[in-house]
Amino acid sequence: MAASGEPGRQWQEEVAAVVVVGSCMTDLVSLTSRLPKTGETIHGHKFFIGFGGKGANQCVQAARLGAKTAIVCKVGKDSFGNDYIENLKQNGISTEFTYQTKDAATGAASIIVNNEGQNIIVIVAGANSLLNTEDLREATSVISRAKVMICQLEITPATSLEALTMARSSGVKTLFNPAPAIADLDARFYTLSDVFCCNESEAEILTGVAVGGPAEAGKAAQVLVQRGCQVAVITLGAAGCVMLSQTDPVPKHILTEKVKAVDTTGAGDSFVGALAFYMAYYPNLSLEEMLKRSNFIAAVSVQVAGTQSSYPYKKDLPFALF
Ligand SMILES: Nc1ncnc2c1ncn2[C@@H]1O[C@H](COP(=O)(O)OP(=O)(O)OP(=O)(O)O)[C@@H](O)[C@H]1O
Ligand SMILES: *[C@@H]1O[C@H](CO)[C@@H](O)[C@H](O)[C@H]1NC(C)=O
Ligand SMILES: *[C@@H]1O[C@H](CO)[C@@H](O)[C@H](O)[C@H]1NC(C)=O
Repeated sequence: MAASGEPGRQWQEEVAAVVVVGSCMTDLVSLTSRLPKTGETIHGHKFFIGFGGKGANQCVQAARLGAKTAIVCKVGKDSFGNDYIENLKQNGISTEFTYQTKDAATGAASIIVNNEGQNIIVIVAGANSLLNTEDLREATSVISRAKVMICQLEITPATSLEALTMARSSGVKTLFNPAPAIADLDARFYTLSDVFCCNESEAEILTGVAVGGPAEAGKAAQVLVQRGCQVAVITLGAAGCVMLSQTDPVPKHILTEKVKAVDTTGAGDSFVGALAFYMAYYPNLSLEEMLKRSNFIAAVSVQVAGTQSSYPYKKDLPFALF
């Protein structure tokens, strides 16, 4: 750190309020008129590389809203890894605890999308799977000084559990996004979550309650809260979200405005990143108000193509959100 006349102030500025312990993935996207059959080679009409991975996506959205952020993650010692670190830096995210390994490639998602928007996807977690508790130990200073920590399930569950445990023991609020969902999720994920936030299909996998709308979402949220999270939030796409907390037995449906969706990819991550921003910087807002604003921000993201490329910056959003 450079010498400064105000060391105290500078130290304050360096501390990340939102810390993500999670994934980085390079998306390799091919657009084709139809999906190939087994053994078939077809020609696509467009190819692009995108930055993805739920951990990094959520971190980027929080950072673009103005949060001081850091990500604890692992990429490969390869060109995708180098490019990913550059992308994080360009978003103002601290990469002090972004590890690079020779032992695996940067996580990658090979995606083929046809003209109808149907897709086939292969994800290779690669370096993400090698993020371990030793790496978290090294990052203790950044984890313990955060306001909010976000975790998902695109890294080894044991690493996510350890991250949540570390956050809890330091009084850091935990926001857990159980994605992609696993049916027999370790019970400690619930008790370690201040906010447990998932989408409809994840809620269904976790609870067995078929979620097709706000009423069923309320029922599923009841199951999640019974399992020990302080608050359960279930996102419902264009229908907004439903929340339920330990302190109020009545689920609340938070509606969102109707917009023309162009590409909903990554909407859930935009929502989670926004929620973390509000939990960290506007802790006195009611949860309902935080969710209303997170709905708004995610709705902006669905009106633009791409994942991170669709996430809005503070400067492009109404003042009333801040
Ligand atoms: N069509 C839409 N119109 C307005 N808001 C939307 C729309 N789709 C999504 N959203 C916003 O994004 C949030 C998350 O969307 P959703 O429940 O579809 O998550 P998701 O399935 O995890 O997203 P995805 O998998 O597409 O990244 C919603 O709660 C809502 O706030
Ligand atoms: C929920 O999120 C998962 C990714 O974790 C996605 O595959 C699934 O399609 C989403 N479900 C809905 C209903 O959007
Ligand atoms: C939140 O409210 C408490 C008590 O009312 C107050 O002391 C604190 O300064 C407020 N914090 C913010 C960030 O507004």
